[in-house]
Parts: sequence; structure tokens; C-alpha cells
Amino acid sequence: MVRMNKRLDPSQTGHEAQKLHTELLNRIVGQDEAVGQIVNIYQTYLAGMSSPGRPIGNLLFLGPTGTGKTRLVEATAEALVGDPRAVIKIDCSEFQHSHEIAKLIGSPPGYLGHRETHALLSQEALNQYHVDGLRVSFVLFDEIEKASDSLWNLLLGILDKATLTLGDNRRVDFSQALIFMTSNLGANEMSALLRPHLGFATSEVDRARAAGEVDDTLNDKLSRVGIEAARRKFTPEFMNRLDKVVVFRPLGADQLQRILGLELAALQRRIIRAPGSVPFVMGVTEAARGFLLREGTDLKYGARHLKRAIERSVVHPLSNLIASDQIHAGDLVSIDFDAAAGELTFTRKAEEMPGYEMAEMIETVNVMVAANAATPELPFRSYAAGRGQRR
Ligand SMILES: Nc1ncnc2c1ncn2[C@@H]1O[C@H](COP(=O)(O)OP(=O)(O)O)[C@@H](O)[C@H]1O
Ligand SMILES: [Mg+2]
Repeated sequence: MVRMNKRLDPSQTGHEAQKLHTELLNRIVGQDEAVGQIVNIYQTYLAGMSSPGRPIGNLLFLGPTGTGKTRLVEATAEALVGDPRAVIKIDCSEFQHSHEIAKLIGSPPGYLGHRETHALLSQEALNQYHVDGLRVSFVLFDEIEKASDSLWNLLLGILDKATLTLGDNRRVDFSQALIFMTSNLGANEMSALLRPHLGFATSEVDRARAAGEVDDTLNDKLSRVGIEAARRKFTPEFMNRLDKVVVFRPLGADQLQRILGLELAALQRRIIRAPGSVPFVMGVTEAARGFLLREGTDLKYGARHLKRAIERSVVHPLSNLIASDQIHAGDLVSIDFDAAAGELTFTRKAEEMPGYEMAEMIETVNVMVAANAATPELPFRSYAAGRGQRR
């Protein structure tokens, strides 16, 4: 034995957990506490320290609509097993009656219609997205405040014992599952707290943080309001089975701007990669981004409203332009804002770009989005200008 007295640093995380942390922060804006909790749970799991006979983690996400609760679950699956669809999602409002519960657990043998019911929560369903080196499942119970009593009992069993008994008495093991639950309980009270801050509450808090003014009071208040609402609605029995309750923060202007960058980058990926697509590059000017943000800002629906604005003002017009043969593969299309008309304009700036040039331009933009640069449209402008001169 070699005696020593080396002080250790328990705040350090392993490489794997750190990687998850970075990937989640690249995808999810403004919900660092929630991201941190998932990373903690994953780290505990990797270290083999999760409680035996329970799911890997039982997490309740509270907070307003459109702030990333569902997206965070998908992003976790994407980061860990490479597929955002690896989440088994149960919309609690859809399982009110016993015949609907049968969709989850199957019906007893001999029961009328037994053959047709494939239990949504079977072991096979849980295991289907396991990958080499990571045998973890992701189960999401959405809007649990709408769950019926029988669904509720089923959920309590999963949270506590990590097992579920199917209609035909087979057992499903949830000890390798991360259980996420969401509810927008408390969202109304939260927005009442925020009303005086009119949509920039989160950026206010972030600014104060960055400036070193330790002012977490608003955040603390928001969390407290959310958790109190949950305590009022849910039984202690349920609350005690949770590893963590996280209150999602309403998104401020800064956050929406970053999400716009992420969404436009995702749209560009779709344009390039979708099977049968017409691959072209779009450049979105600062003015056009400003327009989308104005159109897409809404306290009540968070980033959902922003996504709708993008669909309406960018995706639909682009689809029309492709269908009417005005945009071709290899084009560079600039999207700008016409202030007089109050609408976006679409202009072809270049054509016949080879794949590698398109890839390069898109890469530049992605790097800038990741670095949270304010004006990711710039490379397009300089590129288009440079190209024009060469011709
Ligand atoms: N914090 C966020 N970071 C990144 N994207 C977000 C965030 N919040 C919402 N979004 C975007 O808005 C969409 C809707 O958000 P969602 O996660 O479904 O909201 P909810 O909190 O109601 O579950 C997501 O698919 C994502 O594209
Ligand atoms: Mg949701």
C-alpha cells in the first residue's frame, strides 16, 4: 500500500458525459439546468452507480409550451444512440379508457381482438434502439396531468419498480430506461410572473449573470412556482419517486434568435439530404432573420410559434419555387426582407455550384451557428460577390 493524501475533484466529469453535455448544449438553447441534470444522471449510470431495480432516471419537466421539453428528450436520444426517434412517446391524453390502455400493454390472451394489439410498451419496443455499447431506452410520458387513473398506476409501477406487467402477464424491465415526464403545470403562474419583463426575461437573467450580478431571484421564483404547482396536483407518492424536477424557462429574445439559427441550419440540411430533394443553398440575410423573429415571437407558444413562422414564410414559398422550376439543384438562393412590401424575397444569386462548394458554404454557416455568431448569412454575400467577379 502506498499511503497518500490527494484531494480529489468530484466536479470533473468523464469524457462520455462531457460529450453528451456539449452535444445537448449545441441543440438546446437556454435550458442549461435541464441539460445538466440529464448529464448528471447519465454520468451516474456510466459509473454503475444508478439505483438497482429502478429506471436509470425519473425526470419531470415542467414549464411553458414550446420551450424544449420534448426536444430535449429527442436530442438526448439523438446524442446517445444517434436517432431522435428512439424515444417511445406516450401522449397521456390519448390513453383515457381501458381499451386505450390496451394499446400500451396489450390485452389478456383470449380477449376479443387480442391478436391485433401490439403492446406499445413491450420489451422489444424498449430494446429496439439499443446500439452496441449502449443498451438504454428512452420513454417519454407527455402531459402527465392528463393521465387517467389506470395510466397513472401503470406509471407509478414503472417509476418505482422499473417493471410493467403486460396484458398477457409478461414482464417488461425498465431498469435500462430513462423515464421522462412532461407537464405544463404552473405555466400560467410562470407567465404571470414574467409579464412585467415582456419576453426578454431570460435574456435579462443571462445578462445579469454574465455581468456578474448574481441575480437568480427570478429564476428561483419561476422554479418554485412550477414545483409548487406540481406538488399541489400530484401525490407525494409520485413526487417522491422522481429523481429530479426541472422547470423549463420561458425563452427570451436572445434564445429565440439562436433557435432561429438552429432551425434554419436544420432546414438547410433537409434541403440537401432529403431523398429526392433539389439540393441548393439558401442564404438568409440579417433583415430576413429579423422579420422571422418578429413574426415568430410569442410568449405563449415559445419556439413553436417561431417554427410555424419559418414554415409559412420560408418552407412554403421555397416549395412553390422548386415545384414551379424556379429553383434548381446547385443554386444559391438569397432570402431577404422587403420592408416596403413587408415580406420575404427570394433571389437566385448563383447556379451550377458543384456539391463540394455547396457543402463548404453550408459548413461555414453551421460553424457560425454553433459558435452563436450573430450574422451567419455573411459568407453567402462574400461568396456570391466573389463568384460574380470571376465570371
Ligand atoms: N430550448 C430550445 N432549444 C432549441 N430548440 C427549441 C427549444 N425549445 C423549443 N425548440 C424548438 O421548438 C420545437 C417545439 O418545442 P418542444 O420541445 O416540442 O416544446 P415543449 O416544451 O412544449 O415540449 C422543438 O422541436 C424545437 O425545434
Ligand atoms: Mg412537449
